[in-house]
Amino acid sequence: MERRAFGNTELTVPVVGMGTWQTFDVRDRAGEQNARAVVDAAIESGATLFDSSPMYGESERVLGAALDGRRSNVLVATKIWTPSASEGEQQAARALKYYGGLVDIYQIHNLVAWTEQLELLERLKDEARVRVVAATHYAPSAFRDLRRVMETGRIEAVQIPYNPLERDVEREILPLAADLGLGVIVMRPLGQGGLVKRQPASDSLAALRDFGVTTWPQALLKWILSDLRCHVAIPATSRPERMRENAGAGDPPWFGTEERALVARIAESL
Ligand SMILES: NC(=O)c1ccc[n+]([C@@H]2O[C@H](COP(=O)([O-])OP(=O)(O)OC[C@H]3O[C@@H](n4cnc5c(N)ncnc54)[C@H](OP(=O)(O)O)[C@@H]3O)[C@@H](O)[C@H]2O)c1
Repeated sequence: MERRAFGNTELTVPVVGMGTWQTFDVRDRAGEQNARAVVDAAIESGATLFDSSPMYGESERVLGAALDGRRSNVLVATKIWTPSASEGEQQAARALKYYGGLVDIYQIHNLVAWTEQLELLERLKDEARVRVVAATHYAPSAFRDLRRVMETGRIEAVQIPYNPLERDVEREILPLAADLGLGVIVMRPLGQGGLVKRQPASDSLAALRDFGVTTWPQALLKWILSDLRCHVAIPATSRPERMRENAGAGDPPWFGTEERALVARIAESL
């Protein structure tokens, strides 16, 4: 698995990590055991960055439990998601308990109350309980606000959506992130599953075989990671074998213009 410098931060990140929205919001023993199997598959295949949020129900807690004994081998990215300063403090206290007193990348979810929550995250960083302060948004209508936050110089990374059918970040967010030296985490790499519901015939991927791509989800992930302004993509899955498959997109060689255009054409045609 290739690792990349995470912008100008102190971190290097694996290019494939894992999200936990929906997939880790489980409340029974079987669900928690399955989450652990997915985390095992991720760690074994080098996909050692995990993203969560208090917005994702039980996911933060379930991820913390699944990492049991292995916390120091991985990177955890989670979020503060509340308009309230006191609830923000409580969310941080819970996350720090789940993750051994350290959150590697702490993000303001959807820019909610970002001025207040930035103060909290900066304080936690001063106390060495956070390594990188970041912000996320999923909606192009909020990218203007996201740019403003990026330009304050107070965040070191962003999490944004990017896939062949959601390319808004190409216009301003990715160029600005590269100019400012920010780390970039890519959410929704498989279009929330919509891009993999229908899959192309395997011979249409023949031109991608020399790039180590054997499946359509791998083609989509490699499409993202071949833009070197993106540092890590975080597909979510509830299946260990899919985690291994997704991690298989994390090695060079990277696509050139032609291969990226091919993947985009296929995605548009499905
Ligand atoms: N969606 C958002 O608006 C949003 C916002 C902020 C942050 N995020 C973060 O970004 C992460 C990723 O985004 P996402 O979860 O929305 O969507 P995604 O990763 O683009 O897609 C996840 C879906 O793809 C399926 N999948 C994964 N690997 C597959 C494979 N190899 N073959 C076939 N299907 C596969 C999963 O189903 P199975 O479980 O059945 O494999 C799941 O339904 C989130 O988990 C979260 O951490 C998302």
